[in-house]
Amino acid sequence: MTPKEGKEVSKYLATALIMTALIGAGAAVFHDRPFAQQAKQPGGAQFTPDGKMKLPTGYREWVFLGSPLTPNALNGGNASFPEFHNVYVERRNFDAYQKTGDFPEGTVLVKELVLLQKPTFPDGSQQAPSGRGYFDGNFNCMDVSVKDTKKYAKTNGWGYYTFGHHPEPCEATAAEKPVAECAGCHIANVAKTDMTYVQFYPVLHEKDTGAKAK
Ligand code: HEC
Repeated sequence: MTPKEGKEVSKYLATALIMTALIGAGAAVFHDRPFAQQAKQPGGAQFTPDGKMKLPTGYREWVFLGSPLTPNALNGGNASFPEFHNVYVERRNFDAYQKTGDFPEGTVLVKELVLLQKPTFPDGSQQAPSGRGYFDGNFNCMDVSVKDTKKYAKTNGWGYYTFGHHPEPCEATAAEKPVAECAGCHIANVAKTDMTYVQFYPVLHEKDTGAKAK
């Protein structure tokens, strides 16, 4: 490399470094935006013009709250929700809950249903090297709740939607479910804890979880 070529290369390097720094700064600004502005970005609940909720996306990258399981074998062979219930919430709403003990307006909770894998025994369990038990199998679509205290004032501030209890593909859109099918049971049992079964999600109550992005 001649000295002239060397100079050219270092110019390129300098430009590349500046570009990288600029992109980094941009990302930092984006990250620190207030909630109101972030709400305009993908995430949160999306609706069609006729008021149906669109199937949430990206939720498997949200914060995982827990996975209650109410298998058929423990419910007379006929559980209402026999799958694992994998519950997710967006990071910003998780952080807010940890600070205030309430979910902010616009919070979406996704309960993705996951069928038991290879239910070989009558109780739905199977044998694995770790022992006999229950293991995650195929996805079975999802139930979703959305907080909007004005829009869902009649059901204690939360709206309830189901995108099917069947193998994927899930419904692309869903209309709000009647009180008797969803909200009624949440109102009867967890009206005081923001309509959410927070007692089953220990990660919500850990102040220093180690799960927080540093
Ligand atoms: C008979 C009572 C009952 C009914 C009816 C019911 N749920 Fe729930 N729901 C629960 C319980 C209990 C949990 C937490 C434990 C679990 O998942 O088994 C829960 C959890 C949830 C969660 C996770 C967040 C949370 O609140 O803990 C969502 C989302 C949800 N339900 C949506 C729905 C939708 C949508 C419907 C209607 C299709 C519905 N639920 C009907 C009792 C009910």
